[in-house]
Amino acid sequence: MAENKTGFSSSFGAIMAAAGSAIGLGNIWRFPYICGKYGGGAALILYIAFVFLIGMTLLLSELVIGRRSGHAAIQAYASLKPKRPQWRYVGVLGVVACVLILSTYMVVSGWTLNYFWESVSGALSSVEDGDYAAHFGAFASSVTAPVACLIVFAVLTLVVVLGGVQSGIEKASKILMPVLLVLVLLLCVRSLTLPGASKGLYYLFHPDFSLLTWEGVLAILGQALFSLSVGMGVMVAYGSYLPKGDNLFRSAMWITGCDTAIAVLAGVAIFPAVFACGQSPEGGPGLVFNVLPVVFNSLGSVGSVVFGGAFFLLLAVAALTSAISLLEGIAAGFSESLHTDHKRTAVVVTVGLMVLGVLIALSFEGGVLSGIRLADMTIFDWFDKLSGAYLPSICALLTILFFGWFMKKDDIEDELSNHGTVRTPWFKVFYYFLVRFVAPLALVVSLVAGIWGE
Ligand code: TRP
Repeated sequence: MAENKTGFSSSFGAIMAAAGSAIGLGNIWRFPYICGKYGGGAALILYIAFVFLIGMTLLLSELVIGRRSGHAAIQAYASLKPKRPQWRYVGVLGVVACVLILSTYMVVSGWTLNYFWESVSGALSSVEDGDYAAHFGAFASSVTAPVACLIVFAVLTLVVVLGGVQSGIEKASKILMPVLLVLVLLLCVRSLTLPGASKGLYYLFHPDFSLLTWEGVLAILGQALFSLSVGMGVMVAYGSYLPKGDNLFRSAMWITGCDTAIAVLAGVAIFPAVFACGQSPEGGPGLVFNVLPVVFNSLGSVGSVVFGGAFFLLLAVAALTSAISLLEGIAAGFSESLHTDHKRTAVVVTVGLMVLGVLIALSFEGGVLSGIRLADMTIFDWFDKLSGAYLPSICALLTILFFGWFMKKDDIEDELSNHGTVRTPWFKVFYYFLVRFVAPLALVVSLVAGIWGE
């Protein structure tokens, strides 16, 4: 049973913090592209089904495990099953996944800070010949700027986490998430009012079921899980900070709804503008650092400062709230199981992540460490691959099996109904069906298909 510790002060604050974790770079640079590529509206419908039926099921299970145990990932599982302490390794796996993803995430987030600065200072609009791919290549393979940006981003993340759960994470999320919404809406309005914007909307939303391939189905499922930040124990840690009276079903719905809404809005902010400028749609760093600067440049000198600045700030804010949750997940996991001071642990972890981050940053294509290769992949590629690929899926699978098959059903009921004080929804039976059969099966299929496709 949960012990008392400082948690979020309100449901609103908790939802903002968890939505902040979920809404990240993935919403902005991966979701819209996956949607467009695999059939527009057809992919969107499938995404919504996956994110609410499977992603939210996983999210809710992590929140319940966290709040019921009152612990972050490593301790949570074992404390709910004291006779089987080996369950703690699920939490350990989650923390390892967090370390891998955060060290890479910090490098890329650092890049967004640099581009924000270059946008508002006007440097980005005076790039020679408008060759943004060359500009990005030169920047990302240099030494000083990427490392400096990485350090600034890591320190920003650390400062918020050191502020504590309520006055750091909750407060920052309550400010940053509305800022993020305003920025994305501003960009949507600009994008939609450009001549020729409708082509982008067509790309994003026109349902074309012939593009929805098996590969697409797997990519959409992967995105639904990645986007809700599940499978890394972060939501277990946040679950342990949820107020006791919080209705978990409702919070999980809100978090999933906000995450999906921002992903769709990001698509509306990006693709109409990309098509209006005659550029071709892309995903990932190529879209953000090569294609979009061309789009912003075409908006005139003031337009490029305002909208380019708004866009890179949007990315930095989305990345920051996600990074905060990752650092908190790691620090809480370590400090609880090693019985160390939470703040000191956060500092040590950040220093460790910076060292990893520098190695990753300098091993990007053309960088000074890019010659170090294993199986023809650089350090950057390895981190990128490991963090995105199997670890979170394995951790999510073990979590849902723990939840559905090993945790006491009475405990789950008690947590979902707040000790009998709120009515659990009518579709509860369906929810257990999702937990026990559908979600594990989906995770097994995606893991097997992923390994098969290697
Ligand atoms: N959800 C984040 C995004 O869409 C990425 C992410 C995956 C993440 N797992 C996480 C963020 C765990 C924070 C914590 O970009």
